[in-house]
Amino acid sequence: MKDTKKILIVEDDEGLVHFLSRFFTQQEYLVTSCGDGHQALEKVTGEPFDLILLDYKMPGMNGLETLREIRRLQVKTPIIVMTAYGTMDTAIEAMKLGAYDYLVKPFNRDELQRLALDALEVNRLMTETVSFPAASSKSAAIPGGSVKIIGHHRRMQEVYKLIGQVAHKDVTILITGESGTGKELVARAIYHHSLRKDKPFLAVNCAAIPETLFESDLFGHERGAFTGADRTHIGKFERCHGGTLFFDEIGDMSLSTQAKLLRLLQYGEFERVGGIHTLHSDVRILAATHKNLEEAVEQGQFREDLYWRLKVISLDLPPLRDRMEDIPALVEYFLERFNEEYQSSVRRVDPGAMACLKSHSWPGNVRELENCMRRAVLLSMGDIVREEHFKPTPELTTPKGAEREAFLAHIEKRLDALVPDLLQFCNEKVHESVLDVVEKNLILKVLQQCGFNQVKGARLLGISRNTLRHRMKKFQITPPAD
Ligand SMILES: Nc1ncnc2c1ncn2[C@@H]1O[C@H](COP(=O)(O)OP(=O)(O)OP(=O)(O)O)[C@@H](O)[C@H]1O
Ligand SMILES: [Mg+2]
Repeated sequence: MKDTKKILIVEDDEGLVHFLSRFFTQQEYLVTSCGDGHQALEKVTGEPFDLILLDYKMPGMNGLETLREIRRLQVKTPIIVMTAYGTMDTAIEAMKLGAYDYLVKPFNRDELQRLALDALEVNRLMTETVSFPAASSKSAAIPGGSVKIIGHHRRMQEVYKLIGQVAHKDVTILITGESGTGKELVARAIYHHSLRKDKPFLAVNCAAIPETLFESDLFGHERGAFTGADRTHIGKFERCHGGTLFFDEIGDMSLSTQAKLLRLLQYGEFERVGGIHTLHSDVRILAATHKNLEEAVEQGQFREDLYWRLKVISLDLPPLRDRMEDIPALVEYFLERFNEEYQSSVRRVDPGAMACLKSHSWPGNVRELENCMRRAVLLSMGDIVREEHFKPTPELTTPKGAEREAFLAHIEKRLDALVPDLLQFCNEKVHESVLDVVEKNLILKVLQQCGFNQVKGARLLGISRNTLRHRMKKFQITPPAD
């Protein structure tokens, strides 16, 4: 079973505590609350939390002092500070002290949801330890590691050896490899084995954010720096002080940001966008890319000086097709993980299915194999995965734009035939909407297909377990009595 996320609410306004508790409990989080800073310190020393929501203005110790004390205890859980309009300067102060972000009261559900999900993801990256077989022994490097890097191929052994040699040194590391080879996993392993493991770990995807937003995300901005900048924003470099910043897809970073990053790497200096003060930050940089940076340098898309600076240590991950002998171990690992996640009991993959896995070229590398195994565990009813559980997967046949189009056209055609009947039926029985009829039947069919296992059903339908439960209640769908 996946563990339930735990949220601590530190707030003296009972009404707000009630609202927040309901909001998070409905989403199956475990909520603890307390009304002042001293109690909060007791709570965080007693048990680990995944997220802390902290009111700024409380009787006794205020939010800022509480935050400082929590950080003194080496608790790195993301903290969201809740503050009233007009006290935003303190919120900024809080971020400099290591708060993850802040919410200005009154905030709406969407803001709260977005920020809480971001913070929980950051917490996952920081706390879910990544272990790997030590180069010389078979034992995992950290006890209790919740994810593992799998593979005994010679090239993977070299990777483990290098991680062991450089993780605890403060050097910049460039991780390269095709998509899905485990670059992010390796970055997290380095962080967990580094001296900075009790400090923050933040990831930035250089390809995902437009350039102007990107600079402000990294360096922060001053109020009025550009249209819409109505508040000072503390960027990731400041928030990550003492910690590790992971630049994913660094090959996509713009040339102007590259120049700023170079300065930061050389002198630890930067300015907020629109700011006049030079700030300092001590961050360790890890970077990854699936691109060939040497080529990018030749083509003038990547600065040569930055390239050499990043490449002090470089770590290249092999594609899966070059280490096919690791497939059985990966299969076994994913079976174990997904059995736990979906409460299944698939024991093994039969020889035909294994041959099929071994003959595929895996252009999507380990991620593709992972998705393939997830699907197989979801679809298999018994305890053995057979070839047919792989056959229809788009991963194995390589997803193509044209195939997807053809599939959608096929669905549309089937619906063409069905829609008039559905509409006719629903016109007659006005109390039932056509969407309800379709939804109810689809849910029922999927649940029947996976033996009414709700975890599997929700996953196949692409909805949360909670949503599935609500729908089952609404449509009065119950598992058959056996
Ligand atoms: N050696 C491995 N052992 C176990 N799991 C792995 C391994 N390599 C990758 N994975 C899993 O495969 C998935 C993809 O890995 P990851 O995100 O680290 O790849 P990536 O190289 O960063 O890919 P991309 O370039 O597409 O971002 C993850 O779910 C990861 O846990
Ligand atoms: Mg990645």
